[in-house]
Amino acid sequence: MRLNIPTLYTIEALKKESRDVKRFIFHAEEIAQESQPGQFVMVWNPGVDEIPISIASASPDGMLELAIADVGECSHSLHQKQVGEVVGVRGPCGTGFSIRGERICMVAGGYGAAPLRFAASRARESGKRVVVLEGAKRSTELLYKGDYLKLGCDLQVATEDGSEGYKGLVTELLEELLASGERFEQVLSCGPELMMVRVCELTKRAQIPTQVSVERIIKCGCGACGSCDLGGYQVCRDGPVFNAEALERTEFGRWTRAKSGKRIPVIPHVTSRGAFELVSTPPVPFTPAHEPILQSTVCGIDFPNPLANAAGFGVSGKLLYRYAVAGAGALVTKSLGLSEREGYPNPTFLEIAPRSYVNAMGLPNPGIRNYKVELEDATYAAVPLVLSIFGNTVEECREVAKIARDYPVAMLEFDASCPHSEFTAVENDPRLLSSIIKAIREEVHPKPIAVKISPNIGAPVGLALVAQRAGAAALTAINTVLARPTETTLDIPLLGNPTGYGGKSGKDLTAGGKRIVFDLYEELNIPIIGVGGIFSVQDLIDYAKNGACLFQVGSALVSEGFELFSRLKKELQSYLKAHGYTNIGELVGEAHKR
Ligand SMILES: Cc1cc2nc3c(=O)[nH]c(=O)nc-3n(C[C@H](O)[C@H](O)[C@H](O)COP(=O)(O)OP(=O)(O)OC[C@H]3O[C@@H](n4cnc5c(N)ncnc54)[C@H](O)[C@@H]3O)c2cc1C
Ligand SMILES: Cc1cc2nc3c(=O)[nH]c(=O)nc-3n(C[C@H](O)[C@H](O)[C@H](O)COP(=O)(O)O)c2cc1C
Ligand code: FES
Repeated sequence: MRLNIPTLYTIEALKKESRDVKRFIFHAEEIAQESQPGQFVMVWNPGVDEIPISIASASPDGMLELAIADVGECSHSLHQKQVGEVVGVRGPCGTGFSIRGERICMVAGGYGAAPLRFAASRARESGKRVVVLEGAKRSTELLYKGDYLKLGCDLQVATEDGSEGYKGLVTELLEELLASGERFEQVLSCGPELMMVRVCELTKRAQIPTQVSVERIIKCGCGACGSCDLGGYQVCRDGPVFNAEALERTEFGRWTRAKSGKRIPVIPHVTSRGAFELVSTPPVPFTPAHEPILQSTVCGIDFPNPLANAAGFGVSGKLLYRYAVAGAGALVTKSLGLSEREGYPNPTFLEIAPRSYVNAMGLPNPGIRNYKVELEDATYAAVPLVLSIFGNTVEECREVAKIARDYPVAMLEFDASCPHSEFTAVENDPRLLSSIIKAIREEVHPKPIAVKISPNIGAPVGLALVAQRAGAAALTAINTVLARPTETTLDIPLLGNPTGYGGKSGKDLTAGGKRIVFDLYEELNIPIIGVGGIFSVQDLIDYAKNGACLFQVGSALVSEGFELFSRLKKELQSYLKAHGYTNIGELVGEAHKR
């Protein structure tokens, strides 16, 4: 199985398609052979950034074509590349179009013509009739016209300035076509978001099944970080292609997210008339299953089961809510700081060995003040919420805690250990850590605070004792382990963090995490939350016997999916029953009783 990591490919050909769009052609056999229309790849310009680009064509002989618009730093740098130069590509990512019916209409705007070109070619290969409606501001911006005609599609164009075809919007063309009695069994669309919203309105009225390809900020590209969130869906994994109905109860067409995760209007210059416009459609209230054998009370909080997601696996309240529905008994937020942070450039999350990952997200977060709306969405699931926070001075942490004081959370988790950001200092300075915990405690008391540490410092147990003395109510172990993976051909770091450093997670942490929990249990008298490389029920059992009473799952959500929560719960219950335990609490620390 291929790892989710960029492979270097030589640019075989380049072709200017319009003033701003260039076609890039590679020989990338493994990617091309797996690709489906609507999927995308991550294109890495080493040392600059890595961006998501839809697949415009993928042939059985391994040729892969992308159409890239010059819109910002990375795309501009790619436009400077010449034939013979290399770029990194990983993928294919996401879920593509499922082409159905004999008569299909495709509505394209801008570089949306690229993925639809691939869809049209597959549809034509299987003999379907394809009507393509393509829109642009002016004639020179219409893409892939020749390709569509060569494929035998019925192409109709609309330009806003009337320089070619229908004068006006492509959605007006669709409206006219539907009003004239044209019937389609399916509509596929890709282009500007508001164009697709209108397409969905028209096709809903005409009762035509519709799929649209959506854009959000893509960082990991594989369902880890949550930056691509759309109403709790992960655009990089659940999408980018969605059925129109799936988007009806989301913010599609109203608001999107900045690289920090902050909610922003879809059209930036349309100023929002208040925060109320950036709200979600509320999810259905969810109550977790009653499973007495898994219930526990830790730090005075009742947990329906001991599983939670690890911090950083999602920003949005709706994604956290989804974890609860999938079986998590508690929800942990992304770490929140005082100010909004974009995080580092991509690549930010890569797979370095099977189920072993490295990330350098750089603590992207919308800022604590902007986070209340996410918590409100998450509270539709009746499980305890844990707010993860960070900061590198006492004053900053106090301020974060002051704002968080009235948020609807049961517990706080202080991330003292993000190993690849400037905040490493906290974990390296026990006196600072102690002062920070005391300050947070003063602000949020009686809410308990867990402190999260990593193995990157010499003596994690000593640090944990410092945290306990300062008033930590629980200890979370472990955070990621420092690493600096390189691309060996170019001999440069793979991660976008300017230092090249990141933190390892997943399989590489399983053994070390369990050992640290064992050592902590020997010395501490506060509860321990185990995290690091939990993939199986055996990992839960080992962590519990070593001393953890709650368990956070992170990287395994990428490789195993959200179903992992219910599978782990089921298998844990079976184990406990089979071995005569009446409650999970009886397993905790058992390894120390021998
Ligand atoms: C699934 C998907 C498929 C895409 N397919 C294509 C394609 O086929 N051709 C094409 O030209 N563009 C495509 N894009 C958009 C493309 O990824 C962005 O234009 C690109 O990331 C901009 O990066 P930049 O550094 O050049 O610009 P920046 O200076 O970073 O920003 C320019 C604009 O691009 C947006 N943007 C920046 N980073 C991302 C990101 N990681 N994900 C989404 N939007 C971003 C910003 O919000 C801003 O509006 C696609 C995006 C997604 C999500
Ligand atoms: C993409 C990603 C983002 C993360 N973000 C945070 C974070 O914001 N705060 C934090 O305390 N830990 C963060 N972590 C660390 C995890 O919470 C967890 O401690 C680590 O990944 C080990 O668990 P795992 O092996 O199950 O992934 C992040 C890890 C990853 C992979
Ligand atoms: S980009 Fe989709 S979850 Fe990270």
